[in-house]
Amino acid sequence: MNFTTRAIHVGQDYRAETGSVIPPIYATSTFATGNPGKFDYTRSGNPNFRNLQATLAALENAQHCTVYSSGVASITAIVANLSTGDLILSEENIYGATYRLFEKVLRRWGVKIKYANLANPANYNLIEQLKPAMVWLESPTNPMLKILDIAAISKAAHSVGSTVVVDNTFASSFLQRPLDLGADLSQLSTTKYTNGHSDCLGGAVCSNSADWQDKLLFSQKALGLNPSPFDAWLVSRGAKTEALRMERHSSNALELASRLEQTKGIKMVRYPFLKSHPQHELARKQMSAGSGMFIADLGKGYDETLQFLKRLNLFTQAESLGGVESLVAHPASMTHASIPPTERAAVGITDGLVRFSAGIEDVEDLWHDIAQALGL
Ligand SMILES: Cc1ncc(COP(=O)(O)O)c(C=O)c1O
Repeated sequence: MNFTTRAIHVGQDYRAETGSVIPPIYATSTFATGNPGKFDYTRSGNPNFRNLQATLAALENAQHCTVYSSGVASITAIVANLSTGDLILSEENIYGATYRLFEKVLRRWGVKIKYANLANPANYNLIEQLKPAMVWLESPTNPMLKILDIAAISKAAHSVGSTVVVDNTFASSFLQRPLDLGADLSQLSTTKYTNGHSDCLGGAVCSNSADWQDKLLFSQKALGLNPSPFDAWLVSRGAKTEALRMERHSSNALELASRLEQTKGIKMVRYPFLKSHPQHELARKQMSAGSGMFIADLGKGYDETLQFLKRLNLFTQAESLGGVESLVAHPASMTHASIPPTERAAVGITDGLVRFSAGIEDVEDLWHDIAQALGL
């Protein structure tokens, strides 16, 4: 079965006695002992989790998947398996809350973290030198949309026995399959493109390792990271239209980014499927389209940039991405505000940088909105 068919048919638990086409929401905290599904308590499993896990594993070409209450919970579930003294070698441009978790929690527990620009192959030698327990990647990265060579980095990491994690949130399971490229774990904030409707939070980790799956299920119950059955059901519903949505997100973002690139006064536009992207070829190799995120440096100061955001009508200024509605963010004051200004600037997050999440609205309406806010 191909992606779109798997999205609709795998993980569907039909109820034979009612003929219900859509699985019910199993709103229960506990289960009678001895049931055929071997469920005991919802913190350690629920039919809605199992349905969603089957669907997402199928979409990521994975043997296993575990679901969580948020993307950050899924990251926690992974890193909770590290021990004092272990090293994470991380891409330097990662999501702000991942950075915060690494810096404010893991460091206190004695886990070491080193950051590097892993878009530069010259830095792969750090993997061999440092032999990290874990290599942490995001591709495209948030918010700079750098593309990391998942296959090449995985090869280098496996030669020294490191586990490679890819945060696949920005790409989505439809456009990029990290495990096929050689990564060990593919982690998703299902809050974004998987669910696609901005109405719940969720996270997931997919792998082909029975050992990791045991650890990840253990994290779900031992750390209390489970989603609610209703949220898992919502993500299951959203996943059915992921392919259709991703095609429109990608075509809208490509069109808007290329028009913005031709607009006078705009300092920089970055989108993985634009020829001007420094890793355009690599993006085309490991993703089947560019996804819905693009960034632009408007060449304005902090306050002027915030004024531009206020003039937009169809792009709502909000954190998050990946919903059917277009959103816009100012990383310096929002998602990446927890990263100190000097470190922010070092990775390219200027005051004029705006991050667009193209929704699936009509592209002409979206362009008209950006143009009027720019005063064109
Ligand atoms: C790349 C990336 N990873 C992880 C997360 C965290 O996901 P959640 O907000 O569902 O906890 C986000 C949220 O924006 C994200 O953009």
